[in-house]
Amino acid sequence: MALSFFAKEKKGILTRCRDDYATKMRLRYNPYYHAMESQQGTTVKLDGREMIMLSSNDYLGLSFHPKVIEAGRDALLKWGTSTTGARPSNGSRAFHLRLEEKLAAFFGREACHVHAAGYLSCLSSVASFAQKGDVIYADKNIHSCLWDGIRLSMATVERFSHNRPDDLRSVIAATSSAAPKMLVIEGVYSMEGHIARMRELIDIADANSVFSVVDDAHGFGVLGRQGRGTVDHFGLNDRVDVICGSLSKSLASTGGFIAASRDVIEYLRSNSRQTIFSAAISPAQAACAETALEIMQTEPQHHERLWANTKKYRAMLKGLGLDLWGSETPAVPIVLGSKERVYLFWRALMEKGVFTVMSIAPAVPAGKDLIRTAISAMHTDEQLEKIAEAMAYAVKRL
Ligand SMILES: Cc1ncc(COP(=O)(O)O)c(C=O)c1O
Repeated sequence: MALSFFAKEKKGILTRCRDDYATKMRLRYNPYYHAMESQQGTTVKLDGREMIMLSSNDYLGLSFHPKVIEAGRDALLKWGTSTTGARPSNGSRAFHLRLEEKLAAFFGREACHVHAAGYLSCLSSVASFAQKGDVIYADKNIHSCLWDGIRLSMATVERFSHNRPDDLRSVIAATSSAAPKMLVIEGVYSMEGHIARMRELIDIADANSVFSVVDDAHGFGVLGRQGRGTVDHFGLNDRVDVICGSLSKSLASTGGFIAASRDVIEYLRSNSRQTIFSAAISPAQAACAETALEIMQTEPQHHERLWANTKKYRAMLKGLGLDLWGSETPAVPIVLGSKERVYLFWRALMEKGVFTVMSIAPAVPAGKDLIRTAISAMHTDEQLEKIAEAMAYAVKRL
């Protein structure tokens, strides 16, 4: 009888959890999982202290917009808290279709599908369309959700150097095959703030019959006409096959989307496990996203303010001699090159009341250990001045 009393070996997985080095370090230095006690726009309270949030992805600053809040509240009253089901079964509602139609129209696509998380949308943009025997060409620096999609697809993966069309061309030439092929890139790289060299990359993809997937989580709301994103910024709307992304950044909600041709979206609805076996986005989150999308098109001041703040912020950091990894967007990394320097810098900013997030290898390439910061349209001039003082202080602490 296999009573636990007689078990000789310890459970391997419990031992792994207890002895994990990353977890031990995290608990010792406490850099992550800080739970704010309150928030009002870009001001948060942590351990009883007011701090400026400099790491959220609320680019347009719509998370406290009165119309967005009202839409969420109205949806709760009208539809309840959750659909408690997946879209193909009991979870589809009229508001899902409305949001999908509006997103599709905004991106100039025939159709769109929304999920409860951007992670699901982006993962399934790869995993639902590529399969064993296919070849996927992936930029080395793509987000984890895309790597997970690649793994799940079981396709062969060929990596090319980050944002290097010449390398993509060579990799395709070296691996020529008659199998269906897919290109996976981001529009704006979340960690680096780089804009994809999309025109050249898509030219190469099209010339080689490669289906293209662009994760534009950080370009949506930031680039293109009224924030239509990186694909629109380059005028490639009729050439990129799939645009996916998140509703949790510029749209100040949670959830994700995939926009494409009708054939592609209907195929997704029949074949994507993430779509078929996961509950639909909740009424309040869908309503917040829908209203934020309307605001993007009717209140240009948020977009203008975002870019004015970004320019000011970047100039200030450059004035301090900091390495911004060539960021061109409101996602601005401060590259410090080692985890020790990152920790010192992060601590100094915390001391001065500025909240940021550390990102160290292997989450970033070795030697690129960084502090990830992101500017919002909601940052005030006064906050930008305080941030400048904190940055100058942190530089001296290195
Ligand atoms: C590039 C990229 N894609 C997808 C996601 C996933 O989005 P979500 O947080 O909405 O699940 C993120 C979020 O960090 C991201 O940065």
